Amino acid sequence: MEYPITRLRRLRRTEALGNLVRETHLEPGALIYPLFLCPGEGVRKEIASMPGVFNVSVDEALKEAEEAASLGIGGLLLFGLPESKDEQATGAWADDGIVQRGVRALKQSSAAKKLVLIADVCLCEYTSHGHCGIVKKKEGGLEVDEYEIENDSSLALLSKTAVSLAKAGADIVAPSDMMDGRVGVIRDELDNEGLDLTAILSYAAKFASAFYGPFREAADSAPQFGDRRSYQMDPANLREAMREIDLDLGEGADMILMKPAMPYLDVIRAARERFDIPIGAYQVSGEYSMLKAALANGWLDPNRAMMESLLSIRRAGAGFIVTYFAKEAAKVLS
Ligand code: PBG
Repeated sequence: MEYPITRLRRLRRTEALGNLVRETHLEPGALIYPLFLCPGEGVRKEIASMPGVFNVSVDEALKEAEEAASLGIGGLLLFGLPESKDEQATGAWADDGIVQRGVRALKQSSAAKKLVLIADVCLCEYTSHGHCGIVKKKEGGLEVDEYEIENDSSLALLSKTAVSLAKAGADIVAPSDMMDGRVGVIRDELDNEGLDLTAILSYAAKFASAFYGPFREAADSAPQFGDRRSYQMDPANLREAMREIDLDLGEGADMILMKPAMPYLDVIRAARERFDIPIGAYQVSGEYSMLKAALANGWLDPNRAMMESLLSIRRAGAGFIVTYFAKEAAKVLS
């Protein structure tokens, strides 16, 4: 049936009609709010490239959790800034590491009962060189490009990190390092420790993206040499992303995270159509900063631009969204 019998504008006539035929919905419970935990007390340090996002000490994180819970937000994703860094990433897996302490404190709060606590599992915030794995000098190598990020020796540290975060009380551990085989090793070690109900959210398809720039300021995790292209994915590759997901599911991932989000909506859609598992997407720091910069200049309508960006990620197929806008978006939705 064609015009003039068919008129799609009929159902756009009023807001009530629009509500009835809307295909995609956002709700606060599908939003995950990232927190950057740092040592000290009463610390709330704004990240220059991410207005409205802070490094917070554990006591301040408790306040953030309370606010997030009262807004109906689904959960928190925890990152840490350790007191000191070394080549073995001790701060990542130490019993009294910053995130371990944070998780323990959050677990005891009433707010956190309403929130899923997700702990990021990676070494880059904790290694002196800022890479996500152990760095080995190649035979005879001296130059920067003669170093390699070792896959297999990094797995032991990653699984140790995951176990200690799970022991501290994380509901979900989320490996974001992109080493091969890490999900399987983490699952094994968790099960060996009796942590068989701790879920794994694998950043299965994580691209080597320029949009992580502001995060590296927030988490103080910029690599001191080289870049992450020997372990993170080429932004050009969608089929390879499907293979990554397939492998991680085979190793025991319970859910997967796609990252970044907006520049990769097609990859999210492809994953949604192919795999019957929970899929989330991470609207990363650069996506947030880009919008914030435009908003600061008055170039875009703040609420509309923010909500449209989140809706697009949801429409592409993400069931949940990790976003620095979580609190602001939840306020709009309430
Ligand atoms: C750790 C990690 C990164 C992000 C999440 N986990 C940075 C990176 O890979 O360099 C980026 C998140 C963001 O940009 O908001 N590997």
